[in-house]
Amino acid sequence: MPDQYAVIGNPVEHSKSPLIHAAFASQTGQDLVYSRLLAPKDAFVATANAFRARGGRGLNVTLPFKGDAFSFATVLSERARAAQAVNTLKFESDAIFADNTDGAGLVNDLLRNLGCNITGRRVLLLGAGGAARGVIEPLLQQRPAQLLVANRTLEKARQLSESFRGAFEAATYTAIAGRQFDIVINATSASLAGELPPVPPGVFAHGALAYDMMYGMRQTPFLAFARAQGAAAFADGLGMLVEQAAESFFVWRGVRPETAPVLAWLRQTTHD
Ligand code: ATR
Repeated sequence: MPDQYAVIGNPVEHSKSPLIHAAFASQTGQDLVYSRLLAPKDAFVATANAFRARGGRGLNVTLPFKGDAFSFATVLSERARAAQAVNTLKFESDAIFADNTDGAGLVNDLLRNLGCNITGRRVLLLGAGGAARGVIEPLLQQRPAQLLVANRTLEKARQLSESFRGAFEAATYTAIAGRQFDIVINATSASLAGELPPVPPGVFAHGALAYDMMYGMRQTPFLAFARAQGAAAFADGLGMLVEQAAESFFVWRGVRPETAPVLAWLRQTTHD
Protein backbone atom coordinates (compact mmCIF):
# COMPACT_ATOMS: atom_id res chain seq x y z
CA MET A 1 0.00 0.00 0.00
CA PRO A 2 1.35 3.49 -0.81
CA ASP A 3 2.31 5.79 2.07
CA GLN A 4 -0.58 7.94 3.28
CA TYR A 5 -0.45 11.73 3.71
CA ALA A 6 -3.18 14.34 4.04
CA VAL A 7 -3.95 17.98 4.67
CA ILE A 8 -5.96 18.50 7.84
CA GLY A 9 -8.09 21.63 8.27
CA ASN A 10 -11.56 23.06 8.68
CA PRO A 11 -12.66 23.88 6.05
CA VAL A 12 -10.36 21.83 3.83
CA GLU A 13 -12.29 21.10 0.64
CA HIS A 14 -10.80 24.15 -1.11
CA SER A 15 -7.22 23.05 -0.42
CA LYS A 16 -4.95 22.71 -3.44
CA SER A 17 -2.41 20.64 -1.51
CA PRO A 18 -3.71 17.25 -2.79
CA LEU A 19 -3.26 18.44 -6.39
CA ILE A 20 0.22 19.77 -5.70
CA HIS A 21 1.46 16.69 -3.84
CA ALA A 22 0.00 14.33 -6.43
CA ALA A 23 1.94 16.26 -9.08
CA PHE A 24 5.14 16.10 -6.99
CA ALA A 25 4.68 12.35 -6.39
CA SER A 26 4.24 11.55 -10.06
CA GLN A 27 7.16 13.83 -11.04
CA THR A 28 9.55 12.17 -8.54
CA GLY A 29 8.16 8.63 -8.78
CA GLN A 30 7.28 8.53 -5.06
CA ASP A 31 4.62 5.98 -4.10
CA LEU A 32 2.19 7.93 -1.93
CA VAL A 33 -1.41 9.05 -1.70
CA TYR A 34 -2.42 12.45 -0.36
CA SER A 35 -5.98 13.24 0.70
CA ARG A 36 -8.04 15.85 2.55
CA LEU A 37 -8.89 15.35 6.21
CA LEU A 38 -11.69 17.44 7.69
CA ALA A 39 -11.38 17.71 11.48
CA PRO A 40 -14.10 19.08 13.74
CA LYS A 41 -12.87 22.37 15.19
CA ASP A 42 -12.56 20.88 18.68
CA ALA A 43 -11.09 17.53 17.62
CA PHE A 44 -7.75 18.15 15.93
CA VAL A 45 -5.79 15.74 18.15
CA ALA A 46 -8.34 12.91 17.91
CA THR A 47 -8.54 13.25 14.12
CA ALA A 48 -4.76 13.43 13.67
CA ASN A 49 -4.23 10.47 16.00
CA ALA A 50 -6.83 8.38 14.16
CA PHE A 51 -5.05 9.11 10.87
CA ARG A 52 -1.75 8.13 12.46
CA ALA A 53 -3.26 4.92 13.86
CA ARG A 54 -4.40 4.02 10.31
CA GLY A 55 -0.76 4.18 9.24
CA GLY A 56 -0.65 7.83 8.09
CA ARG A 57 2.92 9.05 7.63
CA GLY A 58 2.45 12.79 7.70
CA LEU A 59 0.07 15.72 7.61
CA ASN A 60 -0.02 19.23 6.32
CA VAL A 61 -1.88 21.45 8.73
CA THR A 62 -3.99 24.38 7.65
CA LEU A 63 -6.34 26.80 9.40
CA PRO A 64 -7.42 26.78 12.15
CA PHE A 65 -5.10 24.07 13.48
CA LYS A 66 -1.54 25.40 13.12
CA GLY A 67 -1.40 26.21 16.84
CA ASP A 68 -2.95 22.86 17.85
CA ALA A 69 -0.34 21.08 15.75
CA PHE A 70 2.36 23.06 17.54
CA SER A 71 1.13 21.71 20.91
CA PHE A 72 0.62 18.19 19.50
CA ALA A 73 4.25 17.83 18.35
CA THR A 74 6.88 15.95 20.34
CA VAL A 75 9.84 17.28 18.34
CA LEU A 76 9.84 20.84 16.94
CA SER A 77 12.13 22.17 14.24
CA GLU A 78 13.84 25.49 14.86
CA ARG A 79 11.60 27.24 12.36
CA ALA A 80 8.42 25.76 13.89
CA ARG A 81 9.56 27.02 17.28
CA ALA A 82 10.15 30.52 15.88
CA ALA A 83 6.79 30.53 14.08
CA GLN A 84 4.95 29.06 17.10
CA ALA A 85 2.86 27.31 14.48
CA VAL A 86 3.16 24.08 12.54
CA ASN A 87 2.11 23.28 8.97
CA THR A 88 3.93 19.95 8.57
CA LEU A 89 3.81 16.84 10.76
CA LYS A 90 5.83 13.70 10.19
CA PHE A 91 5.02 10.52 12.10
CA GLU A 92 7.95 8.26 12.87
CA SER A 93 7.33 5.41 15.34
CA ASP A 94 6.38 7.25 18.56
CA ALA A 95 7.70 10.66 17.55
CA ILE A 96 5.61 13.47 16.09
CA PHE A 97 8.10 15.65 14.25
CA ALA A 98 6.80 19.12 13.45
CA ASP A 99 8.02 21.76 11.07
CA ASN A 100 6.86 25.02 9.55
CA THR A 101 7.65 25.38 5.87
CA ASP A 102 5.61 28.53 5.20
CA GLY A 103 8.50 30.97 5.63
CA ALA A 104 10.85 28.87 3.52
CA GLY A 105 8.05 28.77 0.94
CA LEU A 106 7.90 32.56 0.80
CA VAL A 107 11.67 32.96 0.66
CA ASN A 108 12.06 30.31 -2.05
CA ASP A 109 9.27 31.86 -4.09
CA LEU A 110 10.98 35.25 -3.88
CA LEU A 111 14.43 33.89 -4.70
CA ARG A 112 13.70 31.17 -7.23
CA ASN A 113 10.44 32.03 -8.96
CA LEU A 114 10.51 35.81 -8.79
CA GLY A 115 14.27 36.38 -8.97
CA CYS A 116 13.97 38.77 -6.04
CA ASN A 117 16.92 38.89 -3.65
CA ILE A 118 16.18 39.72 -0.04
CA THR A 119 19.73 40.21 1.19
CA GLY A 120 20.53 43.91 1.62
CA ARG A 121 17.00 44.99 0.63
CA ARG A 122 14.47 46.95 2.68
CA VAL A 123 11.51 44.71 3.54
CA LEU A 124 8.13 45.90 4.82
CA LEU A 125 5.87 43.19 6.25
CA LEU A 126 2.23 44.17 6.75
CA GLY A 127 0.40 42.44 9.61
CA ALA A 128 1.45 40.91 12.91
CA GLY A 129 -0.74 37.79 13.09
CA GLY A 130 0.12 34.15 12.49
CA ALA A 131 0.84 34.58 8.79
CA ALA A 132 3.44 37.27 9.53
CA ARG A 133 5.03 35.41 12.43
CA GLY A 134 5.51 32.31 10.28
CA VAL A 135 7.76 34.07 7.78
CA ILE A 136 9.89 36.30 10.00
CA GLU A 137 12.70 33.92 10.90
CA PRO A 138 13.37 32.79 7.29
CA LEU A 139 13.21 36.42 6.11
CA LEU A 140 15.74 37.50 8.78
CA GLN A 141 18.03 34.64 7.77
CA GLN A 142 18.33 36.28 4.36
CA ARG A 143 19.83 39.35 6.08
CA PRO A 144 17.66 42.13 4.67
CA ALA A 145 19.01 45.68 5.16
CA GLN A 146 15.82 46.34 7.15
CA LEU A 147 12.77 44.42 8.22
CA LEU A 148 9.85 46.50 9.45
CA VAL A 149 6.53 45.04 10.60
CA ALA A 150 3.60 47.45 10.31
CA ASN A 151 0.31 46.72 12.01
CA ARG A 152 -2.92 48.56 12.82
CA THR A 153 -2.53 47.46 16.42
CA LEU A 154 0.95 48.62 17.36
CA GLU A 155 1.06 46.58 20.56
CA LYS A 156 0.72 43.32 18.62
CA ALA A 157 3.64 44.24 16.33
CA ARG A 158 5.72 45.26 19.34
CA GLN A 159 5.05 41.98 21.13
CA LEU A 160 5.99 40.11 17.99
CA SER A 161 9.24 42.05 17.75
CA GLU A 162 10.01 41.39 21.41
CA SER A 163 9.51 37.67 20.91
CA PHE A 164 12.25 37.89 18.25
CA ARG A 165 14.44 39.86 20.70
CA GLY A 166 13.85 43.10 18.85
CA ALA A 167 15.41 41.74 15.63
CA PHE A 168 13.09 43.96 13.56
CA GLU A 169 11.29 47.28 13.88
CA ALA A 170 7.57 47.50 14.70
CA ALA A 171 5.44 50.47 13.63
CA THR A 172 1.96 51.69 12.85
CA TYR A 173 0.99 52.39 9.25
CA THR A 174 1.05 56.14 9.78
CA ALA A 175 4.57 55.98 11.21
CA ILE A 176 5.99 54.56 7.96
CA ALA A 177 4.87 57.51 5.83
CA GLY A 178 7.90 58.95 4.05
CA ARG A 179 9.90 55.70 4.16
CA GLN A 180 10.56 53.46 1.19
CA PHE A 181 10.92 49.71 0.81
CA ASP A 182 12.11 47.37 -1.93
CA ILE A 183 9.85 44.46 -0.99
CA VAL A 184 6.38 44.98 0.53
CA ILE A 185 4.63 41.81 1.71
CA ASN A 186 0.98 41.72 2.70
CA ALA A 187 0.59 39.17 5.50
CA THR A 188 -2.65 40.65 6.84
CA SER A 189 -5.99 38.95 6.37
CA ALA A 190 -7.34 42.15 4.76
CA SER A 191 -7.44 40.72 1.21
CA LEU A 192 -9.78 37.95 2.38
CA ALA A 193 -12.32 40.63 3.26
CA GLY A 194 -11.59 42.59 0.08
CA GLU A 195 -9.94 45.31 2.16
CA LEU A 196 -6.76 47.30 1.76
CA PRO A 197 -4.40 47.67 4.72
CA PRO A 198 -3.93 51.42 5.37
CA VAL A 199 -0.51 51.64 3.72
CA PRO A 200 0.52 55.27 3.24
CA PRO A 201 1.33 56.34 -0.33
CA GLY A 202 4.97 56.44 -1.39
CA VAL A 203 6.30 53.35 0.43
CA PHE A 204 7.24 51.53 -2.79
CA ALA A 205 10.85 52.28 -3.72
CA HIS A 206 11.86 52.46 -7.38
CA GLY A 207 11.65 48.88 -8.75
CA ALA A 208 9.79 47.58 -5.68
CA LEU A 209 8.06 44.20 -5.53
CA ALA A 210 4.58 43.96 -4.01
CA TYR A 211 3.72 40.52 -2.65
CA ASP A 212 0.30 39.43 -1.38
CA MET A 213 0.30 36.11 0.47
CA MET A 214 -3.31 35.69 -0.60
CA TYR A 215 -3.87 33.66 -3.77
CA GLY A 216 -6.72 32.70 -6.01
CA MET A 217 -7.87 36.26 -6.63
CA ARG A 218 -7.18 37.92 -9.93
CA GLN A 219 -6.36 41.18 -8.18
CA THR A 220 -6.31 41.95 -4.46
CA PRO A 221 -6.93 45.53 -3.27
CA PHE A 222 -3.31 45.58 -2.06
CA LEU A 223 -1.88 44.59 -5.45
CA ALA A 224 -4.14 47.11 -7.20
CA PHE A 225 -2.90 49.81 -4.80
CA ALA A 226 0.72 48.78 -5.42
CA ARG A 227 0.18 49.05 -9.17
CA ALA A 228 -1.35 52.50 -8.82
CA GLN A 229 1.59 53.48 -6.60
CA GLY A 230 4.14 52.51 -9.26
CA ALA A 231 5.49 49.23 -7.85
CA ALA A 232 7.43 47.37 -10.54
CA ALA A 233 6.65 43.72 -9.81
CA PHE A 234 3.69 41.88 -8.33
CA ALA A 235 3.05 38.45 -6.90
CA ASP A 236 0.27 36.60 -5.18
CA GLY A 237 0.77 33.72 -2.73
CA LEU A 238 0.39 30.84 -5.18
CA GLY A 239 4.16 30.46 -5.55
CA MET A 240 4.53 30.41 -1.77
CA LEU A 241 1.87 27.68 -1.58
CA VAL A 242 3.73 25.48 -4.07
CA GLU A 243 7.12 26.16 -2.46
CA GLN A 244 5.93 25.39 1.08
CA ALA A 245 4.47 22.15 -0.29
CA ALA A 246 7.81 21.26 -1.90
CA GLU A 247 9.56 21.87 1.40
CA SER A 248 7.06 19.60 3.22
CA PHE A 249 7.52 16.96 0.53
CA PHE A 250 11.26 17.14 1.16
CA VAL A 251 10.74 16.79 4.94
CA TRP A 252 8.69 13.63 4.39
CA ARG A 253 10.42 11.99 1.45
CA GLY A 254 13.96 13.43 1.34
CA VAL A 255 13.38 14.32 -2.32
CA ARG A 256 13.05 17.86 -3.65
CA PRO A 257 10.46 18.17 -6.44
CA GLU A 258 10.71 20.73 -9.21
CA THR A 259 8.22 23.46 -8.47
CA ALA A 260 8.22 25.56 -11.67
CA PRO A 261 6.12 23.19 -13.84
CA VAL A 262 3.63 22.59 -11.02
CA LEU A 263 3.28 26.31 -10.37
CA ALA A 264 2.77 27.01 -14.08
CA TRP A 265 0.11 24.31 -14.33
CA LEU A 266 -1.67 25.51 -11.18
CA ARG A 267 -1.55 29.10 -12.37
CA GLN A 268 -3.46 28.10 -15.50
CA THR A 269 -6.14 26.21 -13.61
CA THR A 270 -6.50 28.80 -10.81
CA HIS A 271 -6.96 31.92 -12.85
CA ASP A 272 -9.28 30.54 -15.49
P1 ATR B 1 -3.35 35.42 10.38
O1 ATR B 1 -3.07 34.21 11.16
O2 ATR B 1 -3.96 35.17 9.03
O3 ATR B 1 -2.21 36.36 10.30
P2 ATR B 1 -4.59 36.91 12.50
O4 ATR B 1 -3.68 36.36 13.52
O5 ATR B 1 -6.06 37.07 12.80
O6 ATR B 1 -4.58 36.11 11.15
O7 ATR B 1 -4.01 38.34 12.07
C1 ATR B 1 -4.64 39.10 11.11
C2 ATR B 1 -3.71 40.26 10.76
O8 ATR B 1 -4.29 40.99 9.70
C3 ATR B 1 -3.50 41.23 11.90
O9 ATR B 1 -2.21 41.78 11.79
C4 ATR B 1 -4.57 42.28 11.61
O10 ATR B 1 -4.29 43.55 12.16
P3 ATR B 1 -4.64 43.89 13.69
O11 ATR B 1 -3.71 43.10 14.54
O12 ATR B 1 -4.40 45.36 13.83
O13 ATR B 1 -6.07 43.50 13.85
C5 ATR B 1 -4.48 42.33 10.12
N1 ATR B 1 -5.66 42.87 9.43
C6 ATR B 1 -6.86 42.27 9.23
N2 ATR B 1 -7.67 43.06 8.50
C7 ATR B 1 -6.98 44.18 8.24
C8 ATR B 1 -7.27 45.39 7.52
N3 ATR B 1 -8.44 45.59 6.93
N4 ATR B 1 -6.30 46.31 7.46
C9 ATR B 1 -5.10 46.14 8.04
N5 ATR B 1 -4.77 45.03 8.74
C10 ATR B 1 -5.69 44.06 8.83
